[in-house]
Amino acid sequence: MKTIAVLTSGGDCPGMNAAIRAVVRRGVDRGLQVFGIHRGYQGLLAGNMEPMDARAVGTIIRRGGTMLQTARCPEFATPEGVRRGLDNLRRAGIDGLVVIGGDGSLRGALDLSRNGFPVTGIPATIDNDVNGTESGVGVDTAMNTALDALDKIKDTAFSHGRVFIVQVMGRRCGYLALITAITGGAELALIPEIPSSLEEVLATVRYDYAVGKQHCVIVAAEGAAHDPESIAGYLRQNAQRIGFAEVEVRVTILGHIQRGGSPTAADRLLGSRLGFAAVDYLCDGNAGHMAGIQEGRVVPVPLAVVATERCQLDLNLYQIAQVLAR
Ligand code: ADP
Ligand code: F6P
Repeated sequence: MKTIAVLTSGGDCPGMNAAIRAVVRRGVDRGLQVFGIHRGYQGLLAGNMEPMDARAVGTIIRRGGTMLQTARCPEFATPEGVRRGLDNLRRAGIDGLVVIGGDGSLRGALDLSRNGFPVTGIPATIDNDVNGTESGVGVDTAMNTALDALDKIKDTAFSHGRVFIVQVMGRRCGYLALITAITGGAELALIPEIPSSLEEVLATVRYDYAVGKQHCVIVAAEGAAHDPESIAGYLRQNAQRIGFAEVEVRVTILGHIQRGGSPTAADRLLGSRLGFAAVDYLCDGNAGHMAGIQEGRVVPVPLAVVATERCQLDLNLYQIAQVLAR
């Protein structure tokens, strides 16, 4: 292993720069030449890469986003795309690759690995939907961003005695929404893992006002069964069944602010630890693995495990969210 490359792929997240920095500086430390590939697999297919030294990653640890930029590249998710990527890596004299991204990006890493190319992965997505690791780079910062927003929504919900429906990202995973609901003291969490009907939402709102709450804040994962506007419309139409002539309902979609921001200490540390390990895995015979975090320890997780299963949300947290909201 003399020359390695690193890329960031898929949805960006805070902490990706910490991971890039760790890959470059551990690689230099181990006497390797390191290349940065711009814009994920799209850049790999375009041969868009440049050498990086220790100075190239100066001051980036605190910056959100990814200095290498990222992209979604459907073409790479084809056998022809993978073959072209392999050709470009070998033509550039690259011996190993570190992929920083979510479950989709790590499936791409597995494709390269299954074609005999040394690859290691770093879980980096705000969704926290990568199997084989308790968390990933970006999750902590996104949780705190969503929590800060929910705290602000709670203020105005109380002032006006309103119902708020706050949509949180996560694609098909309800982790961000559930943790935001618990830590923000929301009255209800709606997540894709647990089906919920509009009637059940109405019953919760009715209960909250009946027991004397002044407002009701609902956190809805973007993958939940009902979209926020549908929920709002149903509550307005059934205001009298809640106990009022009219119920004021507002919707807030947090959207991409959850993807930005300076990474928290936790994400800077996680990115540094996983980036360091990902280079060591390439050098010490552990290619084909993701650097995961389990019980606080960094462990090698086979990419085949990462790519073929989905993480399971700890549904005990859902019971905590329900009980503590009452
Ligand atoms: P994330 O990595 O954040 O989950 P995506 O799911 O969009 O983001 O995946 C990012 C990129 O990874 C895709 O644009 C594609 O290039 C590659 N990719 C996704 N799924 C696969 C797959 N099953 N096989 C090969 N490459 C994939
Ligand atoms: O995978 C991260 C994520 O933020 C998801 O939570 C969200 O559904 C998706 O990316 C949004 O994708 P894009 O940034 O391409 O709009």
